[in-house]
Amino acid sequence: MHTKTEERVIRPARNVYGSLRLPGDKSISHRYGMLGAFAEGTSRFTNFSTGADCASTLACMTALGATVSKIADGVVEVTGVGGSVTPADHPLDCGNSGSTMRMIAGLLAPQAGSFTLVGDASLSRRPMERIRKPLAEMGAGITLTEGHAPVTIEGGPLRAIDYTTPVPSAQVKTCVLLAGLQTAGTTTVREALRTRDHSELALRAFGATLTRDLDSVSISGPQALHSIEAQVPGDISSAAFFLCAAALFPGSTLLFDSLGLNPTRATLLDVLTALGARISVLHLEEKNAELVGAVQITAPAEGLGSTEISGALAAQLIDELPVLAAIAPYTRGGIRIRDAKELRVKESDRIALVAKNLRAMGAEVTEFEDGIDVPGGQTLHGATIDSGSDHRIAMAFSVAALRAQGDTLIQGAEAAAISFPEFFDLLDLVAER
Ligand code: S3P
Repeated sequence: MHTKTEERVIRPARNVYGSLRLPGDKSISHRYGMLGAFAEGTSRFTNFSTGADCASTLACMTALGATVSKIADGVVEVTGVGGSVTPADHPLDCGNSGSTMRMIAGLLAPQAGSFTLVGDASLSRRPMERIRKPLAEMGAGITLTEGHAPVTIEGGPLRAIDYTTPVPSAQVKTCVLLAGLQTAGTTTVREALRTRDHSELALRAFGATLTRDLDSVSISGPQALHSIEAQVPGDISSAAFFLCAAALFPGSTLLFDSLGLNPTRATLLDVLTALGARISVLHLEEKNAELVGAVQITAPAEGLGSTEISGALAAQLIDELPVLAAIAPYTRGGIRIRDAKELRVKESDRIALVAKNLRAMGAEVTEFEDGIDVPGGQTLHGATIDSGSDHRIAMAFSVAALRAQGDTLIQGAEAAAISFPEFFDLLDLVAER
């Protein structure tokens, strides 16, 4: 299952300039792929994520009886199983994808049959108790291996629950909602901090009814889903690397077309504005209830200021924190990140790896259990970067490398393909040297 590791040399840039249209959002593609494969009929998606993670979701759903056809670049047709899957006679491989494993567990728990979910070495280290607990409360037969994958599920009818998530997690919320979709009665998920709401919007687009309150979402089952046609918005978490790259070079400007601007995902734009960047939304429309727009960023002439990210902000920005920390030494006042303990259980321990790699580049940082403090006004030098096979670490440090003195070597650069296979080509396109 091991792909060959790849090294990439990133040379410093003078400027970042151009316009980009990015492949489809990873979170939305997972949901459209999974729901289309579960629904009745044939769905058609354009600008579907090109990342390996979403391919893992499609492969699992194919093993469960759905038909997936790649029509052209980013165009995927999915014929669903009409609400009842065929158990596979082999484990379902979720690859590196926590979203696939946690969400599919909720989809499968109410289905007849036995299922085993496995993943790669990184996914096999990640916490799964957070999905076992609510599914077991619903009556599912679900077992883990010391809190981790492999996850085995003895599926069957469940009972509706009212569940409060102990850590903010859209994956856990989705897991419970997908089980609730197929369960008699009303299942409610309550969360202290609002997480991304793509599942709620996608379930509605596929014909389900949900009710939302300030801090909860409820679904009454069982309900059937129908197929849809949809264009997936560009991935704002992929755009994050380019937004941060542009922000580093006074006068740089980048334009993004058809970018997903769901308010539960677009907090980075507020943070970059607070750091002094000029962000303009040039066009805004709604597609299947998801906001999509064109966004332009212009970097401030005086350089980036400073900011602190904590509390609800940390949860909303969880995927963007590595790149924000990686550009922090180049700000004037630094960036402090707290309340982000979840970073330690992502594809890697992202706090430890960000600290290690920033130090390798000569930066001074203070690491906390739940965050990192990176002072501003620092000069970094090129270094050898350990991606830890984590896509967001590989890309975050490719961005930091653009402002370093000398070349940077990214080890494990192939990890970028987990979410964004086009990353290095696009970086070459917009980084002026
Ligand atoms: C995701 C939710 C987040 C995020 C991940 C994708 C999703 O994870 O970090 O990259 O698609 O629902 P958690 O739900 O575990 O916070």
